[in-house]
Amino acid sequence: MIKIRVPATSANLGPGFDCLGLALNIWNEVTFEYAEKNSHHVTGEGAEKLNKGSRNLLTKAYSLVHDVCRKGIKAVDICAHNEIIMSSGLGSSAAAIITGLFGANEMLGKPLNENELLKLANEMEGHPDNVAPALLGGLVVSVMAAKEIITRRYEIPEFMIVIVKPNVDWPTRAARAVLPKSISRADAIYNIGRTTLVVDALRSGDLELLQKVMDDRIHQPYRLKYITGGMAAYKTAKQFGAAALSGAGPSIIAFVPSEKAEQTKTQIMRVFEERGITTRGIITKPSMKGAHRIA
Ligand code: HSE
Repeated sequence: MIKIRVPATSANLGPGFDCLGLALNIWNEVTFEYAEKNSHHVTGEGAEKLNKGSRNLLTKAYSLVHDVCRKGIKAVDICAHNEIIMSSGLGSSAAAIITGLFGANEMLGKPLNENELLKLANEMEGHPDNVAPALLGGLVVSVMAAKEIITRRYEIPEFMIVIVKPNVDWPTRAARAVLPKSISRADAIYNIGRTTLVVDALRSGDLELLQKVMDDRIHQPYRLKYITGGMAAYKTAKQFGAAALSGAGPSIIAFVPSEKAEQTKTQIMRVFEERGITTRGIITKPSMKGAHRIA
């Protein structure tokens, strides 16, 4: 029997579309144990949906490692307790993929190395910005090169992070479909410099700089207008610190001074709730740990 933990992640961090991601101190905890027959049971977030079908991202990823390593698959009992809210922009799909890949790799005695796991995860997800920090922890810059995913992982200080998820239907598929096929040179330039400075601000714990540079012109403006209350909530979050759409949304993420965390959460929630949308609010911190084994 093995037991692993995989963190939530927030991708993009404003301008770093599809290449920046941060692991958060929110975890799914999963045990794998060989058994007489296959079973997959989930408690916590998404339990109702995930307990309905036996094929999902986690079990697909688990099988994929066996296929790639040409190992016969034995019946396994998978038991998950999930804290990561699904369809929220907090990397729940990436966490499911990493759980299946990392869990299978541990069960088989680690035939694959970190980069091989990351490559498989990226093939399943289509972009590396959530799967990389879910596997490695910390702040991760990742790019797809010809034959590999090139990543650099950075430790960052203990920022206070507020996340507010409006309860709206906003699948990542839809969130990617609303993006333009091409962008202007001016918008590319706007994002390139800011992405570099977001990394610097996060690494040095410079909240003032982060607040100035965590802006984006290549995905947020297109997405926020489809999320009821999204633009107003984002603007409210920016009054307290540095803010962004978390991943593809719909959650808003804000990096704020610790004494402002509760107030920031309440105010962002209020913006959505005034428009008749219920919300969930979380106060958390970055996690320097990625997927790891606890038993
Ligand atoms: N970079 C991705 C996006 C993250 O913004 O679509 C969500 O999966």
